[in-house]
Amino acid sequence: MTNGKTSKALVVYSTRSGQTKDIAELIAEGIRFEGLEAEVKNITGIKKESDLEGYDGYVFGSATYHGEMMQGMKTMLFLAEKAPLEDKVGGSFGAFGWSGEAPDRIFDTMANIFKMNMVSGPLRLKSASLGGGIQMAQDYGREVGKKLSEA
Ligand SMILES: Cc1cc2nc3c(=O)[nH]c(=O)nc-3n(C[C@H](O)[C@H](O)[C@H](O)COP(=O)(O)O)c2cc1C
Repeated sequence: MTNGKTSKALVVYSTRSGQTKDIAELIAEGIRFEGLEAEVKNITGIKKESDLEGYDGYVFGSATYHGEMMQGMKTMLFLAEKAPLEDKVGGSFGAFGWSGEAPDRIFDTMANIFKMNMVSGPLRLKSASLGGGIQMAQDYGREVGKKLSEA
């Protein structure tokens, strides 16, 4: 909590077929379960550095295509380099099929370049709805929420 106000997290997703959006919504639910505010935005809504200002935590997600994060996420990470993210709580996520590089790359950038206060690791899910995905995504949100409460 900062200045007695409820901490607020921004969850940004980059998706082609919707899985990563579903994961984003579940992460936001988990954050809200911890009593904090969470806003979910499609990456297409982040156009300037100021769109990233005013939050206490950030969770960035992208699906993996051809071994990489989606282009929109790459562009946003260059934008985020100029935003005041240092020491803010951070996490990353993404849907994948077999290799799932995107969440790892995003996580490493948030930790090493933005110097954020990261959760234990990235969240990689094959699907939001299969193999306990709903629970895992909500739990990830809870982890972000707990870290925000401590910050
Ligand atoms: C053309 C194509 C390329 C893909 N390349 C990869 C890949 O390199 N590694 C991987 O783990 N998944 C890959 N996938 C699987 C997607 O990451 C997976 O379908 C994911 O659920 C899509 O997420 P989205 O619905 O958020 O776009 C690929 C899918 C397609 C259609």
